[in-house]
Amino acid sequence: MAHHIVTLPGDGIGPEIMAPAVELLAKLGDFELEEHPFGGASIDMHGTALTDETLQACKAADAVLLAAVGGPKWDTTDPAKPRPEQGLLGLRKGLGLYANLRPVRPLPALYDASPLRRERIEGTDLLVVRELTGGIYFGEKTRTADAASDLCEYTVEEIERIARTAFQAARSKVCSVDKANVLETSRLWREVVTNLHAREFPHVELEHVLVDNAAMQLVSSPRHFDVIVTENMFGDILSDEAAMITGSIGMLPSASLGGDGPGLFEPVHGSAPDIAGQGIANPLAMFLSVALMLRHGLGLESEAAAVESAVDRALAAGLRTPDLGGEAGTAQAAQTVFAHLE
Ligand code: IPM
Ligand code: MG
Repeated sequence: MAHHIVTLPGDGIGPEIMAPAVELLAKLGDFELEEHPFGGASIDMHGTALTDETLQACKAADAVLLAAVGGPKWDTTDPAKPRPEQGLLGLRKGLGLYANLRPVRPLPALYDASPLRRERIEGTDLLVVRELTGGIYFGEKTRTADAASDLCEYTVEEIERIARTAFQAARSKVCSVDKANVLETSRLWREVVTNLHAREFPHVELEHVLVDNAAMQLVSSPRHFDVIVTENMFGDILSDEAAMITGSIGMLPSASLGGDGPGLFEPVHGSAPDIAGQGIANPLAMFLSVALMLRHGLGLESEAAAVESAVDRALAAGLRTPDLGGEAGTAQAAQTVFAHLE
């Protein structure tokens, strides 16, 4: 039976990178695709970033593939107005996707595209495991004329399940990132991770690092890390930082897993409204997100590996989009990767 995938092109460069991803899937097998408006596009059509219909369609799918949401058109500081990002948060929460996996592995062909020196980044191969459905993103928010607040809350259960994901993914060690010198949620986080480690994963090395120090070590010695596990907002920030190790945020895919239903697969980068409509967006993070979907969402390991190796070989053959210092547009980049598919 064909795998059933919901595609959410979203906003900005989203539709421009979703189109070649759909082409890529057509070359790999029999997939039944169902497209829905999402984010700003959905606000324009339905007044809300995520309709019930779209959420239900996602729940019924085998996997959900998302490009990007957001843009200046819907930017507002008015809490009463809908925002594209609410769609993304609603979808993550609605599908119960508490585990966000963001692999960071610079390709040798791109060592010189990173703003960091080659000798710093060479050999880096790390995974950011970001908690995705808790913390300050989802706590109660208040707003009055002269004050505002965002509540950060974590339960033992929420911390334990994401820590388990991290220990299971680790090859050698887990670095748990928190701010335990200041935050109560971080002190609970540290305790729960320590206890789980002693109980279930004593063979994996565990270290605790404060988030400010982790931010520094990520650029000073990225090779030091294997798996980084952290709460929602720290993970958001550290994963953008880590993206620069690969040369461009246009290279980083992500998988969001953990619910009973389908996973959500999306590039780490946003909708890049500044370059939307120009046909120059880098489609590679989107392609690599397709690979993660094939592997983690649909169990199609050989197809996933084929996509990853086609991307590797296209880059090794010299493919560079503008974000990597080259001139290839989206369509040309896609064709180059297709030409390397086996
Ligand atoms: C990400 C994005 C989102 C987040 C935004 C668009 C809500 O930055 O996936 O990293 O903060 O989670
Ligand atoms: Mg982010």
